[in-house]
Amino acid sequence: MIDRVVSKGYARAAVHAARADGATVGFVPTMGALHEGHLSLARAAASRCDFVVTSIFVNPTQFGPGEDFERYPRRIEADTELLASAGVHLVWAPTVDVMYEPDAQIAVDPGPLARRWEGAVRPGHFGGVATVVAKLLSVVRPDAAFFGEKDYQQLAIVRRMERDLDLGVEIVGCPTIRDSYGLALSSRNAFLSAAERVTGLALPFALEAAAAACAGGERDGRALENVMRTTVAAHAGEAVTLDYAAVIDPDSLEPLSQVASVARAIIAGRVGGTRLLDNCELLAPRAG
Ligand code: PAJ
Repeated sequence: MIDRVVSKGYARAAVHAARADGATVGFVPTMGALHEGHLSLARAAASRCDFVVTSIFVNPTQFGPGEDFERYPRRIEADTELLASAGVHLVWAPTVDVMYEPDAQIAVDPGPLARRWEGAVRPGHFGGVATVVAKLLSVVRPDAAFFGEKDYQQLAIVRRMERDLDLGVEIVGCPTIRDSYGLALSSRNAFLSAAERVTGLALPFALEAAAAACAGGERDGRALENVMRTTVAAHAGEAVTLDYAAVIDPDSLEPLSQVASVARAIIAGRVGGTRLLDNCELLAPRAG
């Protein structure tokens, strides 16, 4: 049986009881509307830790005005069943009132890593993410917390926050899960029509083209970005509005003029009213 609790106190007590029995604790924070991407994190946690906690909380502070907070999909009963079958022991689903003090004044400033890319398109987004992740980690106090590479900038910021604030949690990055056509799974894919799903494949196609060009010896960052843009245009024409397509350093997230050995290609854009984002590793051939 899987337990589902709302209050911080119950969540803490349940983790405390598991620890008293000698269990290691794994944690998977989510916003619900779960798919195989989330479940892969839960399974990774279950394979490494004795007691697995998943939070389901659609965090208002990471949504900007006019974003999809209100229409973000919510299906807690179905999510709970999926988590039980993925080996999760405790679902913590706090309400906004449980999570935030009405007069909260202090928040995490995620710094320069949060200003580019998603942060430039969604001002304040990563401040909301970093603050809620810090709060969730403080309540659960896991040994390890699991995040998807799908949200690469988020993963980089969480790793940096853990280091810079001495949170004492192992941050585990897990690979992106895709549908059979290659589209990265996302709760927001539920908003896409069948035709928009096909259009959205322009993003993974662009990443694949950049990875192939880089493996074939193209090291110039600008040239690789052009490969991505022309692939999107060829596949989707005007139907994808790109926010960015960039080749960046995997840690600093700064754009790279040359790929020495490893880089990250990141891409984001809108299909109809839905924002999609994706990324992949670029590996340059060894010199000599
Ligand atoms: P959410 O979008 O629900 O994602 C929860 C976790 O699942 C994140 O670590 C995300 O990177 C991962 N994930 C999503 N799609 C994935 C896929 N296709 N493959 C692998 N992992 C995937 O990210 C958030 O929620 C929130 O910002 C949160 C961290 C919970 C803070 O509110």
